[in-house]
Amino acid sequence: MKILVIGSGGREHAICWKIASEVKSATLYSVPGNAGIGEIANLINIPLDNLQEIATFAKKEKIDFTIVGPELPLAGGIVDIFNKKKLKIFGPSQKASNLEASKVWSKEFMAENNIPTGKFFVTDDFIGAKKVVEKSKFPVVIKFGGLAAGKGVAIAREYEEAISFLEDIFEKKIFSSVNNSVVIEEFLSGEELSYLVITEGENFIPLAPARDYKRIYDEDKGPNTGGMGCYSPVPVCSHELEKIIEKKIVIPTIKGLQKRNIDYCGIIYFGLMITDRGPEVLEYNVRFGDPETEVILPRMASSLLEILQAAVEGELKREMVVWKKEAAVDVVIASGGYPGSYKTDIPITGLDSVSSDVTIFHAGTKKINETFVTSGGRVLNVVGLGKNLKEARAKAYERIDSIFFNDMHFRRDIADLEKQN
Ligand SMILES: Nc1ncnc2c1ncn2[C@@H]1O[C@H](COP(=O)(O)OP(=O)(O)O)[C@@H](O)[C@H]1O
Ligand SMILES: [Mg+2]
Repeated sequence: MKILVIGSGGREHAICWKIASEVKSATLYSVPGNAGIGEIANLINIPLDNLQEIATFAKKEKIDFTIVGPELPLAGGIVDIFNKKKLKIFGPSQKASNLEASKVWSKEFMAENNIPTGKFFVTDDFIGAKKVVEKSKFPVVIKFGGLAAGKGVAIAREYEEAISFLEDIFEKKIFSSVNNSVVIEEFLSGEELSYLVITEGENFIPLAPARDYKRIYDEDKGPNTGGMGCYSPVPVCSHELEKIIEKKIVIPTIKGLQKRNIDYCGIIYFGLMITDRGPEVLEYNVRFGDPETEVILPRMASSLLEILQAAVEGELKREMVVWKKEAAVDVVIASGGYPGSYKTDIPITGLDSVSSDVTIFHAGTKKINETFVTSGGRVLNVVGLGKNLKEARAKAYERIDSIFFNDMHFRRDIADLEKQN
């Protein structure tokens, strides 16, 4: 069986690793992959924005099943292209990807379906936006309407900060020269939670809840990143809370998509804030989270591939998923300077030793003459598995002690729940 995984991060390494452990006879391919993925899959060097060429490759190579990691190929319509060629692929269509690709579309969708979310206002007009900001309570949240690789959201503490972000969008046009709409949104406080489900448009399977850390420095200081660490399970996410999330958020979302005649097959990732009023949606993503996937999949006892295939066939059943009792903690090691500019091609040492309860998922790595070197901002995910979060955390940090590259940076407070509370 031939499986193709599209993407090049820790998320895609975790997906490949999980499938390789389930189906010994599988031949894995990854476009474009990274050095860690290259240890278990064939790396195919096609740029991620060349969707036609990826589909042509899949057809020629007779790929049986494809899994898409990142949002850009989904928003570009890769699933529609594969389906036209009668190739099996897991992920939502281009139209369905609006749930993530357009913050305006998704907020209006939430309002239409009474899905709890912060109060908001949408406009594509600079003067109108300024007027709304003038009347807002601070902090106020301003979101660029389209995809912005995690850089499109500002939490403005005061008026000047809000105006300066609006100027970036409407005058400097830093995100787009054409489509400049914004969502101005009520600031919600509470604990964040990543809640992912797999759905084929009707039935759904919830994945283990996870919590990620977005800021670069300890105690949530410094700028936002793609994610500096993660853990699962999440103590704040009780069984009762899960029931509420399903009833008030997951089911109305799936029903709302049906109402809009959207056949949704894929992941729906609910970015939630657990507020005093209950769980509310900050945003949707239409794909596996990164780093959430790196803690969710090591905890999954059942077969990921079987579940994803069942989703594509429209035969998803909740009983298909079984979870291990163990907890998982992922500490991300990044290049010094990230999320700003950083050096690459720095040799990494200490990756050789293996143990059953620590797994290393590569993100920005490549191989030069048999040596692993850095090639991106987020470089490695060190994931510890233990009987509880404390033990999983200790294992991840202990393993990091033996990994080194120049200027490496990681947070020391991932899953440190005592400190957090
Ligand atoms: N309404 C809000 N209230 C408080 N914080 C928010 C709000 N919306 C977003 N955030 C913060 O900003 C981060 C990024 O926002 P999000 O909507 O997830 O956009 P993206 O992931 O596309 O950058 C969230 O993870 C959260 O920390
Ligand atoms: Mg987000």
